[in-house]
Amino acid sequence: MLASRHIMTMDDVTADEIALILETAESFAEVNQRRIKKLPTLRGRTVVNLFFEPSTRTRTSFEIAAKRLSADGINFSASSSATVKGETLRDTAKTLAAMACDLVVVRHKYAGAPQMLAEVMDCSIVNGGDGVHEHPTQALLDLYTMRQALGKLAGLRVGIVGDICHSRVAGSLVPALRKVGATPVVIAPPTLLPARPDVLGAEVMWDLDEALPALDVCYLLRVQFERADAMPFPSNREYASLYGMNLARMAKLPRHAIVMHPGPMNRGVEISADVADSDRSVILEQVESGVAVRMAVMYLLLGGADSGAAA
Ligand code: NCD
Repeated sequence: MLASRHIMTMDDVTADEIALILETAESFAEVNQRRIKKLPTLRGRTVVNLFFEPSTRTRTSFEIAAKRLSADGINFSASSSATVKGETLRDTAKTLAAMACDLVVVRHKYAGAPQMLAEVMDCSIVNGGDGVHEHPTQALLDLYTMRQALGKLAGLRVGIVGDICHSRVAGSLVPALRKVGATPVVIAPPTLLPARPDVLGAEVMWDLDEALPALDVCYLLRVQFERADAMPFPSNREYASLYGMNLARMAKLPRHAIVMHPGPMNRGVEISADVADSDRSVILEQVESGVAVRMAVMYLLLGGADSGAAA
């Protein structure tokens, strides 16, 4: 169903596979509207959520997705596991491998943690965010949400604003947009861009006000203070005045353009409360799409309907 057993980076999925994932997610979104939101598709399969970093949306949406497909889900959070006793990621992975699970969703502060798990475990690995590297299912749900709101992906001009250099969301969204024929534009002060922004494969702009009138999507990122060694700008007020989305800036966007944010938001820093709660914001639609897209990813990775062949 998908050529790769894993989704660790956007390199693991082709443009055709993105189309297949989005199409499959659309049928699961329909199931999510029903009163009884459960399918027997992954009955007997075991999905482990292995989260070493905090998460609200990603962990719960993978958990709900697994339950709606009738998989057995196990939640492993670092604070209540042997990790606090000093167990290495490799040993934790070997322990879980011995219990024969079918799919592991991993979030870890180290870039490359999913690849390490894939070496040790004989199951599908989905990256739920690895350090400052990638977060591919976030990019897939973002594409889904854009297509729902704007009716297409090819040709869209998508401004990704803010903390590009620490953002695994941008790390997956930029290549994902390129694969579907959209144009990613990163908009940030130089202190929040990587040293060589040209390697991102996106257009680079410093001035948000100049960028706004040509955008179809304005995608705001949280400033990841926890990943920065020092304050990347003088104050939050300074940041908000130059890069924060507010009503005056939203008025500079074309009428059809939408505002997105992966969450969690810092209201008053990268986005004002009135923009976050406005009818041009699709932030809650992103969360909603997350469940259907993650159902699609699990279904396609685990072989879909063929998976229960023994029955
Ligand atoms: C992001 C993450 O954890 O990578 N959130 C998410 O998964 N929805 C972004 C962030 O923490 O700012």
